[in-house]
Amino acid sequence: MKTFQQKVAVITGAGSGIGRELAIQLAQKGVHIAIADIQEEQLHETANLLVQYHVTVSTHVLDVSQREAVYRFADDVIARHKGVHIVINNAGVALSNVQVNQMAYEDFEWVLGVNLWGVVYGTKAFLPHLLKQSEANLVNTSSLYGLTAVAKAAAYCTSKFAVRGFTEALRQELCQTPVAVTVVHPGGIRTCIARNTRPATNGDIISNPEHAVQHFEQQAQTSAVDAARLIIEGIRRNTPRVIIGKDAKFLDLLGRLKPGSYDAFMLKHIVHEDEKAYAAAGKLETSQV
Ligand SMILES: NC(=O)c1ccc[n+]([C@@H]2O[C@H](COP(=O)([O-])OP(=O)(O)OC[C@H]3O[C@@H](n4cnc5c(N)ncnc54)[C@H](O)[C@@H]3O)[C@@H](O)[C@H]2O)c1
Repeated sequence: MKTFQQKVAVITGAGSGIGRELAIQLAQKGVHIAIADIQEEQLHETANLLVQYHVTVSTHVLDVSQREAVYRFADDVIARHKGVHIVINNAGVALSNVQVNQMAYEDFEWVLGVNLWGVVYGTKAFLPHLLKQSEANLVNTSSLYGLTAVAKAAAYCTSKFAVRGFTEALRQELCQTPVAVTVVHPGGIRTCIARNTRPATNGDIISNPEHAVQHFEQQAQTSAVDAARLIIEGIRRNTPRVIIGKDAKFLDLLGRLKPGSYDAFMLKHIVHEDEKAYAAAGKLETSQV
């Protein structure tokens, strides 16, 4: 994208974390903003932070997993802003530690509904509008767990690998159009994602969830400010793939060098380290992987 001034950006999951920072930093560049989130209060907190930048801001309470609601959202954005140049499908959720054998279908469907179908609906609802522009960008958020998988997070990994496949296929389809497509793979980013994580119905029982959150926040290497800055830089350069943080870069390399045998590393350095940290803080009831 050559210039940001007077463009219009749509950001889902903008009530918190990376989405909120994207809204702030794009507004600072003179981009008009349509923000959506399922949490109304947090959405309005973000909108209040944007007032000082004197751009047009619209707020949309939205559950991205509801197809018709996403299409109504696209209609509302076009009615309000008359067009759209940047769409960032950022909203996402995580599910706490649970093995596939114990995982409730409702939990699995919830994760896929938000993380995968939310991205698909957001892409398809806005794509016809993006294609009308002389330059436009579509950004879909995957994860470091869209590059390598980890035990006890199969639903999250499934959703984020799928976002990657969907986005990379679409990128090829759109290569002769004005729409640049980017898939983002953040590593650990210090946001509210761990606080917003839903405990799995049949998952490990972490008696001290606050400690689990603190453990995540200690491990997360990158701030939301830096993550948003790198994503916007990716938009500016029309980069196909943005990998954020040394952790994500390392796992990307590991997954490519040892695609069939990275399991031991993940079990030792991620799953068991997490379990040790939670157990140290209180009771952790878990079936061993
Ligand atoms: N934080 C990390 O370490 C990390 C790592 C890899 C990928 N990601 C991805 O980055 C994206 C942003 O996450 P974040 O870290 O800023 O988390 P966050 O929890 O701070 O923000 C996510 C936002 O999405 C919103 N949301 C959740 N469900 C929704 C729904 N159904 N409809 C609309 N909005 C909904 C939440 O209300 C929240 O405001 C997510 O897709 C996440 O999976 C984050």
